[in-house]
Amino acid sequence: MPSDTRERKCKSGNYLVLSTITGYPESMSQGFKPCIAIVGATGAVGQEFLELLHQRDFPLSTLRLFASSRSVGSVLRFRDAQLQVEALVDGCFDGVDIALFSAGRGVSQAWAPRAVDSGAWVIDNSSFFRMDPAVPLIIPEVNLHAMSEMRQPGIIANPNCSTIIALMAVTPLHKVAGVKRMVISTYQSASGAGAAAMRELEGQAREFACGRPYTTAIFGRQYLFNCFSHNTEVGADGYNEEERKLLRETRKIWDDDSVRVSATCVRVPTLRAHCESINLTFDRPLGEKQAREILAAAPGVSLVDDRANNQFPEPIAASGLDPVLVGRIRADMGQDPGCGLEMFVAGDQIRKGAALNALQIAEALLVGQVLGAQGTKSGARIALA
Ligand SMILES: NC(=O)c1ccc[n+]([C@@H]2O[C@H](COP(=O)([O-])OP(=O)(O)OC[C@H]3O[C@@H](n4cnc5c(N)ncnc54)[C@H](OP(=O)(O)O)[C@@H]3O)[C@@H](O)[C@H]2O)c1
Repeated sequence: MPSDTRERKCKSGNYLVLSTITGYPESMSQGFKPCIAIVGATGAVGQEFLELLHQRDFPLSTLRLFASSRSVGSVLRFRDAQLQVEALVDGCFDGVDIALFSAGRGVSQAWAPRAVDSGAWVIDNSSFFRMDPAVPLIIPEVNLHAMSEMRQPGIIANPNCSTIIALMAVTPLHKVAGVKRMVISTYQSASGAGAAAMRELEGQAREFACGRPYTTAIFGRQYLFNCFSHNTEVGADGYNEEERKLLRETRKIWDDDSVRVSATCVRVPTLRAHCESINLTFDRPLGEKQAREILAAAPGVSLVDDRANNQFPEPIAASGLDPVLVGRIRADMGQDPGCGLEMFVAGDQIRKGAALNALQIAEALLVGQVLGAQGTKSGARIALA
């Protein structure tokens, strides 16, 4: 906990300088404590950033919170400090070292380049920059190397939550047996569509209990006791945008345009954590036993595969957890022996699918840093070793 906090004025109000944060392994960051900004701090992902910055004892000197004009001036708690939400205005990123964006595509499009111009590294949760060839698309456990060429502040994209959850479980198997084809069916929670969607599902539960008509402002339909095709636009080929992201992003992250991916993405009335049924076809034989051994040793993955007690990955169990849960691992009876596997995964998409993944990227920046007098406005340079 900070034992000494000083208040400082900025253009759009007061914010606190957290001058002594204790407990973080400072050797990792060589004592450098960046100024961090969260854009979209009042949202589902933004709130998780606050939680994780605290839980992980992330080293920071100053925390700046931004949201829409609706929230400007409201106060959010971080550790024992009360921080005021600011507006995005000219010069608002001056002095920011790392800006964590989670306010949607339009905000990222408009403001992420301006943050970079101000000297900040941007880690973006929106889909806007993901397929830009100049922007690395990173899952730290999978392809951290893809940002190793960056030498100065720029944009790093966080993949789509369903892609992160799938690839956390599939990449360790891909490395051994070469995944040729992946068929995914998702069971996606309300919170994947933001805090308001989560509130709408909770509200429908209350409305059901009271016999009132359902409020359907977000999805335009009854969500409670229902499931429906993912609420992104359906293209001429019949695939919706979420399904297309799984294909495009997997190819970019694996740097392999030959991998075949077909997905069916569905919203189910859970509040938090997505599940995915994943069917794999391999280039080289891989048995169920070896797959289990590989996944048991894989970083960021936990095996939950207890057939005797019918204990397998569930969204409630995955909620609030860092690792992706993997189970129901079995040979695919529909393919030649050794050629295919079935499995079922559950991952907290606000956490590993968004905020945690982004913070791991920020931690990688800090660990690989080069400190110097020039660089960011706060007087330190972050660059990968
Ligand atoms: N939810 C997930 O599981 C998840 C997973 C992966 C990626 N993402 C991505 O992360 C981003 C945020 O998602 P979310 O679920 O956290 O959404 P959310 O709960 O709806 O929160 C949106 C945040 O953006 C802010 N915002 C909206 N318009 C703004 C504007 N014009 N200027 C500044 N701030 C603005 C909101 O501020 P107000 O509160 O003031 O409106 C709020 O803080 C999206 O790009 C989403 O695709 C979400």
